[in-house]
Amino acid sequence: MAIVIDPASQSSDDDARSNTSSELTELDPGDFPQYFRENLGRLFHSHGQSPYPLPVDAAEQHRLNRQHALLQSLIRGLFVGPVNQALSGINGRKNAVDLCTGTGKWVMDMALMFPHVKFHGLDIVPIQTRHPLPNVYFVIHDVAAGLDYTSGTVDLVHARDISYAVRNYHQLLCEVMRVLRPGGLFVAGEWAPYPSMGNIYNIRDYAPRTWEYFDLLRMVLSNREISTVPTMIRPWMEQLGFVNIEVREYRLPVNGRHATSFTRRTNANLQVYVESLQPMMADAGYGSRARSLANLMFGEISRVDGIFFTYYAIHGARRARA
Ligand SMILES: C[S@@+](CC[C@H](N)C(=O)[O-])C[C@H]1O[C@@H](n2cnc3c(N)ncnc32)[C@H](O)[C@@H]1O
Repeated sequence: MAIVIDPASQSSDDDARSNTSSELTELDPGDFPQYFRENLGRLFHSHGQSPYPLPVDAAEQHRLNRQHALLQSLIRGLFVGPVNQALSGINGRKNAVDLCTGTGKWVMDMALMFPHVKFHGLDIVPIQTRHPLPNVYFVIHDVAAGLDYTSGTVDLVHARDISYAVRNYHQLLCEVMRVLRPGGLFVAGEWAPYPSMGNIYNIRDYAPRTWEYFDLLRMVLSNREISTVPTMIRPWMEQLGFVNIEVREYRLPVNGRHATSFTRRTNANLQVYVESLQPMMADAGYGSRARSLANLMFGEISRVDGIFFTYYAIHGARRARA
């Protein structure tokens, strides 16, 4: 059963919904506790199947919203790819779906920009605004259980920073392909698993603790069957028959010795991220190792110039009918 957070604006001409739309149920605020559980003083999702390891509490929500703003500066907008083209058309007849929407900030910003498009934001926890725009539907839904949309009805599927949320990205891509209209667009964004220093400087030599921290993180994630997949998305899309695939790499710099307001914001968000990872590290038995590596990492980051995180922006379309 799909659960809509605020169905006040639900209208009957929503041609993207599958037959299960008759099962939509309004989420009562009293039901909220059932979506959350507490661990080590942080609030997590309580979904039985999702591997998602980060908290979903206020600190994390602020981090996601700041990351949204940072990414907007980095990619110069809300998306990379021919989204205007995919969403142009007749009033009220376009549908866009945001997988693992988080706080729903991207959906709300997009809904303002494209008021004729219906935006559906899917997540397993109700952390989105209770007052969505009239063209926004936030739905509690596990994306690993398939997408509740009729085949060939969705114009745009967006998936940003979801690799910790899905064990089988390839399977999800199959579902994306199924629900997209011919000519419909898939837009994804994912972080590389390690920070980098470009070709000349090897981060393992110049910032070894930073590399070690992220290596420990990769190992702990992989024990939870989570893998970060940015470089696999393109080959999977090719294999599934997506066309016009493009991948762009963006570098998000961290401080070094010469901080700017931008790199300060990146560093601040990195601190919150590392703090949010700490319960998972502790559960895995690496709490104190992660903590001491993180302290050494932040020391390195403030001394070593040129460290950056790579963000992959990927898009591709379902082949249009001839
Ligand atoms: C890192 S956040 C990204 C949020 C958003 N896409 C953004 O860019 O700000 C990942 C989100 O995935 C959600 N999530 C985890 N497992 C999920 C699942 N199986 N189905 C739907 N959402 C899921 C989490 O609750 C969290 O809000």
